[in-house]
This record gives sequence, C-alpha cells and structure tokens, in this order.
Amino acid sequence: MIIRKPADINPSEITPESVFHGRREFLRRAGLAGTGLLAGSGCAAEEDPAEDPGTLSKLEVASGSPYSTDAEPNSLEDIMSYNNFYEFGLDKSDPARLSGDFRPRPWSVTVDGEAELTGTFDLDDFIRPHPIEERVYRLRCVEAWSMVVPWNGIALGDLIKRFKPTSRAKYVAFETVVRPEEMPGQRRGVLDFPYVEGLTMAEAMNPLSILALGVYGVSLPNQNGAPIRLVVPWKYGFKSIKSIVRISFTEKEPPTTWNLAAPREYGFYANVNPEVNHPRWSQAKERTIGTGFFGEKKPTLMFNGYGEQVASLYEGMDLRKFY
Ligand code: MTE
Repeated sequence: MIIRKPADINPSEITPESVFHGRREFLRRAGLAGTGLLAGSGCAAEEDPAEDPGTLSKLEVASGSPYSTDAEPNSLEDIMSYNNFYEFGLDKSDPARLSGDFRPRPWSVTVDGEAELTGTFDLDDFIRPHPIEERVYRLRCVEAWSMVVPWNGIALGDLIKRFKPTSRAKYVAFETVVRPEEMPGQRRGVLDFPYVEGLTMAEAMNPLSILALGVYGVSLPNQNGAPIRLVVPWKYGFKSIKSIVRISFTEKEPPTTWNLAAPREYGFYANVNPEVNHPRWSQAKERTIGTGFFGEKKPTLMFNGYGEQVASLYEGMDLRKFY
C-alpha cells in the first residue's frame, strides 16, 4: 500500500451532521430501542430524503448500538472525500472523483461454499430480515491515519446464521465486484482484481463485525463501497472490503488481496497493533483525518481500542507471526 500526501478535500454538497445529530437525538429519546425489524426494504427511501442526496437514499435505521464509540464522528465530507478504493484509482480523491459511473443498483450477492443455504440473492431480499443499526466505529488504516465513521449496517453474524454454514466452514471469504467499464482503476490493473478478503468464522461471528449499507443515515456513497461493504473495526481498514458480490464459506484460509500483493507487509489477520510496525513505517501513532493538513497524531490502541470484545479470539497466538 502506498502512502500518499493528504488529498485535497472536495467539499461535498451534503450537510450530513444535521441529519446525523437529528437521528442521534431521536435514538436517545427512544432509549435506543430498536423495532428489531425494518419496514419494507432495508434500503427503502423515505419521503424526506437527506438534503441534496444525489443518488443517496435515506435509510431506515432501527437502533443505535452499545458497540458505538462516543468519539465525535468525522464529517460526511471527510468520509466521502478521503478514500482508499483502488478500483477507482490510487489517490485519496480518485474514488470520489471517478466513481460517478458506478451503478450500485440493481445488485445481487452470491453465497456459496460450505453452507446449507447457497444461491444468488437480490440485495433487498438478502438484507431484509435484519435491522439496520447505527455503529459509530473508529477506522484505522494500515497507512497510519484514522477516522470515526457512523456506519449503518447489519450484524454479519446474524446474516451468516441464516445460511447455516456446515461444520467444515472455518473461514468466510468476500469478493468485490469486477466492472472495469465502471471502475477505471480496474482497467489499469493496479492490483489483481477482484479484490478479495477473508475472516475466520469466529471473527465473522463477533458482534462487532457488520455489513455496512450506509453512513450518516444515507445509503453508502459509491466511493465508500456501495451498496454493501464489510466493516471490522479492530482490523486495519484494508480488511473492510467494499462493494461485495460474493460471500463464500471455506474450509481453508482464503487468499486476500494485499497479502497476495505484498505478503511480507500484509498478513491475513491485520489486527490493529501499535507494537508490530509495518516493515516501512511505525504503527504506534495515527494521523486523525479532519484535523488540518498535517493532522493531529494520537497513539494507536491495541485492536484499535476493541480489545475487550476481540482479544479472546487471539489468545495464545503470536501476533507477530499472525500479523
Ligand atoms: N475494498 C476494495 N474493494 N478495494 C479497496 O481498494 N481499500 C481498503 C478498504 N476496502 C479497498 C477496499 C482500505 S485500504 C481502506 S483503509 C478502506 O477500504 C477505506 O474505506 P473508506 O474509503 O470507506 O474510508
């Protein structure tokens, strides 16, 4: 992964914080009580869309989550304009600039491998049984920058249970769509596409793991991985694969894109760990996006601060070996 200078932040026309704080107030007043079920489609647009949403539709978010951090989220402008999505280019501003032709609807997801229920599902059917929660998570990129993102998503573990993985399913593999005609970075072949990622079954079932469908109460912008992407907040951001079209249950550890590209630099686990440096830079600190050109530096936390929820997954493992 290449470290690049901070890109110019494109001002977005959306003013999301008002939407966000309005929703937070609503959830607070409702005592964070979710309905547990979505009315109609999981991505149904409401009558009152976010200010100038473009192609973004407002999501029906059922509840907040005890897993959310209290840290102040980055603005939607930060989240939408400083991205890594090599399918659209290498620069941080490329995904926002060059993803306008990408069509996230209609969309289907294929589930295959070691599970009782497999097949190809329309996205709305795929997510319909699951309440969309707000999860305000820290995002720590392996390049030593970080953000706080108010994702809207469904619990990956609950979705997995529906497909009844067999006892042979030890891992969950994910694959990004391949559409070179809509994704200019795929035409340049900067990585071996499709982008692929994977988790152990225990990691995928951890309650922190979500499939995000939106951010700030609106559907995911193309540059953030529309229409559905993984979010695993205790791991470096490259594990959170975008624009997912395939989920496979496997017996063997699946290949992962950055490990294939540079095996000495990026492992399968990629847990945030300030004590294990990247071969080319320190992981002890992180630059906080949205705090000026040079950015405030703060210490990086083990497992990105989610140790209480995930440290037990790695008990007895040498985290320098399984990096
Ligand atoms: N998924 C795909 N398909 N392609 C990518 O290039 N980049 C990863 C991850 N998911 C990437 C991807 C990296 S390195 C990071 S840090 C996060 O997406 C960034 O997510 P964001 O742009 O929504 O902040």
